[in-house]
Amino acid sequence: MDPVANPFAPGAGTPPPELAGRDAIRETVRVAVERARRGHPAKSVLMVGLRGVGKTVLLDRMRDDADVAGIQTVRIEAPESRSLPAILAPDLRRALLRLSRNLQARDMAERALRALAGFAEALKVKYQDIEVGLDFEKEAGLADNGDLEQDLQALLEAAGTAARRGGTALALFIDELQYVEEDQLAALVTALHRAAQRSLPVVLIGAGLPQLRGRMGRAKSYAERLFDFPEVGPLGVDDAVRAIAKPVRAEGADITDEALACIVERTRRYAYFLQEWGKHSWDVAAASPITAADVDEASRTAIAALDESFFRVRFDRLTPAEKRYLRAMAHLGPGPHRSGDIADELDRKVTSLGPTRAQLLAKGMVWSPSHGDTAFTVPMFDEFMRRIMPGDDWRT
Ligand SMILES: Nc1ncnc2c1ncn2[C@@H]1O[C@H](COP(=O)(O)OP(=O)(O)OP(=O)(O)O)[C@@H](O)[C@H]1O
Ligand SMILES: [Mg+2]
Repeated sequence: MDPVANPFAPGAGTPPPELAGRDAIRETVRVAVERARRGHPAKSVLMVGLRGVGKTVLLDRMRDDADVAGIQTVRIEAPESRSLPAILAPDLRRALLRLSRNLQARDMAERALRALAGFAEALKVKYQDIEVGLDFEKEAGLADNGDLEQDLQALLEAAGTAARRGGTALALFIDELQYVEEDQLAALVTALHRAAQRSLPVVLIGAGLPQLRGRMGRAKSYAERLFDFPEVGPLGVDDAVRAIAKPVRAEGADITDEALACIVERTRRYAYFLQEWGKHSWDVAAASPITAADVDEASRTAIAALDESFFRVRFDRLTPAEKRYLRAMAHLGPGPHRSGDIADELDRKVTSLGPTRAQLLAKGMVWSPSHGDTAFTVPMFDEFMRRIMPGDDWRT
């Protein structure tokens, strides 16, 4: 069918034509943010899930929801190699400048911008990657100790006070939170905790890989009580069907029930895969309705496209030793796997593989559902590894 009209959108962070199955979690976040705005206790929400389940687009949609409701939002993504203060400062500055246009909030927003000036200057010594425009002189003693934990606390307190004056809340949306160093996570948790104790309207809506939960707990033992950790996973069957059928029908075309069932089965209801199968099934079909035979044929090109993009970008970041480790895991199946079993496959000792496993954890390629267990963070990565490294060469 006409590729120009193809509604599907496979891609990291690309908004889907239909955001299926996420109404409940959006509502949870809306309630938390509104409670914060009114000065009621509100739990921050940290969404955890594997690669490609739809965390980023969900976070973006929640941010849009909050913007529409008049909340001051900050939207950042934690890359692997930058510090939290460096990524936070420029966006927080923009939010504070917006807030300073509100007459009620102006004084306090300007004070928060002074706090930001002190924060940036004092922490620049330790976090050289901080780059932020400064609109006001710092105020001696305000967020300028040079200690992240104390200064972030003071900064968010000042920002929260300004938000409260403006009758709004400050909502921080942070993606890939598992990449933030543990000491910086600890500072963030402390600052949010302090703001909550003072009934200030500051909330964190975060997203990350499943290891985020454990990292938070290690950073601050009380973090697990302070936050909700809803899991973002594959869609339910009805939602997966809707994610495909609705966009097709919105373009005036149709798809058979059999074809839908086939897509549901092949994709195992993972969001990224649904978009890829939807796109290729549309392109393969000569005419409406899309049939099961079309889906069958599309499966080949869909898998090839995934291998070239979704899986490939992850694979290319691996060292040869890391590839062998993951290939051994793949040999054992989808997982999770015991460290001892993986070591046996490679004819090595568990301890000698420790550093490789640690690197894979740090890169977010694997996570540990329980002590001594290792699982892929990318759905169906075991099948990909067997495709890209076929045979037995990896053993040698
Ligand atoms: N609820 C949904 N319904 C249908 N498609 C969705 C849904 N959520 C996400 N998608 C699609 O899935 C793909 C992946 O989404 P997204 O990039 O948000 O995943 P992610 O969990 O952030 O992945 P990663 O961990 O790799 O960053 C995108 O193509 C997006 O359009
Ligand atoms: Mg993402």
